[in-house]
Amino acid sequence: MPSLAVIGTQWGDEGKGKIVDQLSEKKDLVVRFQGGANAGHTIYVNDEKYVFHLIPSGILHEDVIVGIGNGVVLDPEVLMDEINMLEDRDHRVDSENLKISPLAHVVMPYHKIFDGIREEEKKDKKIGTTKRGIGPCYEDKMARIGIRVMDLVDEEKLYEKLKFNIEVKNKILVKAYGKEKLDFDRIFEEYRLYGKKLKNFVYDVSYLIDDFYKNGKNVLFEGAQGSCLDIDFGTYPYVTSSNTSAGGILTGAGVSKDKVDEVLGVVKAYTSRVGAGIFPTEQINEVGEKIRNIGKEFGATTGRPRRCGWLDLIMLKYVVRINSLSGIALTRLDILDEFEELKICTGYEIEGNIVEDFSTNFMAYDKLNPIYETFKGWESQTTGIKKYENLPENAKKYIKFIENFLNVPVDIISVGPNRTQTIFKNKKYL
Ligand code: GDP
Ligand code: IMO
Ligand code: MG
Repeated sequence: MPSLAVIGTQWGDEGKGKIVDQLSEKKDLVVRFQGGANAGHTIYVNDEKYVFHLIPSGILHEDVIVGIGNGVVLDPEVLMDEINMLEDRDHRVDSENLKISPLAHVVMPYHKIFDGIREEEKKDKKIGTTKRGIGPCYEDKMARIGIRVMDLVDEEKLYEKLKFNIEVKNKILVKAYGKEKLDFDRIFEEYRLYGKKLKNFVYDVSYLIDDFYKNGKNVLFEGAQGSCLDIDFGTYPYVTSSNTSAGGILTGAGVSKDKVDEVLGVVKAYTSRVGAGIFPTEQINEVGEKIRNIGKEFGATTGRPRRCGWLDLIMLKYVVRINSLSGIALTRLDILDEFEELKICTGYEIEGNIVEDFSTNFMAYDKLNPIYETFKGWESQTTGIKKYENLPENAKKYIKFIENFLNVPVDIISVGPNRTQTIFKNKKYL
């Protein structure tokens, strides 16, 4: 399996970090291709916790090279914090094992200010962004006025591009919003220094992937967010600003489609969402609270409580199609251990009709009424189980139902946050 993509299938926080970390043991290169520091990927190694916002989750393996692709929006402040955190904990991060595409766009302080302004303007229609400047940075990329990593590390270019941007942004900030002017000198000095620190990490990531691939080395593409947050295919406008689905790999890492061999979708055994937007199976009741409390469902980036609900297979059927998923990593099965009864959504009722296929047309609805299949819970601990055969019968029934409905194999089952708490149903990942 020369190359594997690991992507989120719901609204993020499915446990991608854990799965990527685990699978990275057998990889040579791990590349992020979209998103930015809005991501929060949590990894536990022997109960030691790491949260990565920008550095790919393969970094904890000594021999793995990690890459930040051109599709990522890079916040140098967050990146430097992550590098320092890793060094403080005796992990090596240098120009040999971290490569940053010169084409990646840089998140600037004004992007974060505009993230806040855009949200305020929306009043009761706020997206609930992470306020990490993601949307405004991608806006500037598309407007062709963005500052790229290649500019950040070139003082003259940085000066010229920042000057232009600050002039434009100040007009808007001061005249349209009555806000304070941005201080060019301060921002230039701060970012010039980031440029100096990051210069050695700059490398053509697209070339690197091609080179590794041709030499039979193993490449992993690490997705951030989830397919339902995709700028095109997600629940627009309550989405993030990048292509989070597998299509984003081609443009966000600079590879051709024949170099993405398999796509593993990470599916949480139930559903969660942070921020606003449609969530048909949300449980605003004791069930949702029970999931949130047992699952400690609070955001890794913002600490916000996550909205929780039942697994939605109609949404996932759509996600399987958009991404051509070859396998599923089912995570957080253990969070359902104490439930007497479980539900899975297998259809929606819309204006008296039963719909079993999610289509982009449904994005127009504010509410979809889910139809559920009910399952008996297994009411016993799954954490600690190492073999599929040893899972409780009712847990196996739950998993088989998912496989049959989606026609995609559940290859990996995660029953705890640690590396050891994983069941490899399909041995090809070992
Ligand atoms: P990501 O953004 O997709 O990487 O997911 P997050 O890190 O934001 O959230 C997933 C949370 O679940 C993290 O705290 C993980 O440590 C944790 N986690 C991952 N897999 C499992 C699992 O199978 N069981 C339990 N109990 N926790 C898990
Ligand atoms: P990981 O990679 C969960 C959500 C925000 C908000 C919307 C837009 O950890 O799964 P943005 O700041 O991107 O403009 O916010 O997207 N969001 C995430 N939700 N996990 C994430 O990342 C997310 N990244 C963004 O909450 O609803
Ligand atoms: Mg997360």
